Amino acid sequence: MQVFEKIKDISNFIKELKAQKKTIGFVPTMGFLHEGHLSLMRYAKKVTDVVVVSIFVNPAQFGPKEDFNTYPRDIEGDKGKCLDAGVDILFMPSASEIYPEGYLTYVNVEKITDVMCGASRPGHFKGVATIVAKLFDIVKPDKAFFGQKDYQQTLVIKKMAADLNMDIDVEALPTVREPDGLAMSSRNSYLNEEERKAATCLYWSLTKAEEMIKNGERNSAKIIGDMQKIIEAEKLARIDYITIADAETLEEIKTIDKKAVIALAVWIGKTRLIDNIVVNMK
Ligand code: PAF
Repeated sequence: MQVFEKIKDISNFIKELKAQKKTIGFVPTMGFLHEGHLSLMRYAKKVTDVVVVSIFVNPAQFGPKEDFNTYPRDIEGDKGKCLDAGVDILFMPSASEIYPEGYLTYVNVEKITDVMCGASRPGHFKGVATIVAKLFDIVKPDKAFFGQKDYQQTLVIKKMAADLNMDIDVEALPTVREPDGLAMSSRNSYLNEEERKAATCLYWSLTKAEEMIKNGERNSAKIIGDMQKIIEAEKLARIDYITIADAETLEEIKTIDKKAVIALAVWIGKTRLIDNIVVNMK
């Protein structure tokens, strides 16, 4: 595995690979890798010639009161996991390499970033779109892979890639869950034992929604009401949002009669967790 910290070094290496007509699969991450990330890397390994992973805790996507400083980091552990997953290139730039002094350029995807996590975390998706655009430009991938757990993020990146004519296939792969259903996330490491148990309420609320839909319920308010009850029964949980929205536009829908995303963000103590499912109704 080649490890690069400087843009010019990875760029030169990528140029050589492109000259050899190798296809490049890219998994951008903020590190503290878990099975969700590793599943993306293994998939990338199957469908592209060369797998590039980036590890960069991107300051531009954290609000001033958010967890940038405490975000979990484990560079040595991550390197080992990348090696085991068959990653070919690991890119680990410093903040000053990515945002040198005087940096002024940002990418802003409109509208679909105003709702859901964008409403709770103003500026977050501008930071995400900016770093991913920069990484895409550096890595020049043919395909890039993201987890469905961050549904809105993947939609934003797909839109950015399409609007900016980036010739990159952006793919979302299924959420990887712990045996009790909790979606894997680096932020799960913040949870103490009691909070960890409480955190399964996100999954159970989505399971309830799925079951209601299977039984013929199409009314969003009713489904959200039952999801709310499950979360509110958990004393450590506080709802940030629960929404049922058009899977493409993220506009809320009253009746589930098309492809829809059921998404939620819930505070478990001081940790904000997200999860979602996609349902495809005709
Ligand atoms: O999902 C993440 O880990 C980050 O938002 C990403 C896509 C690596 C951009 O910093």
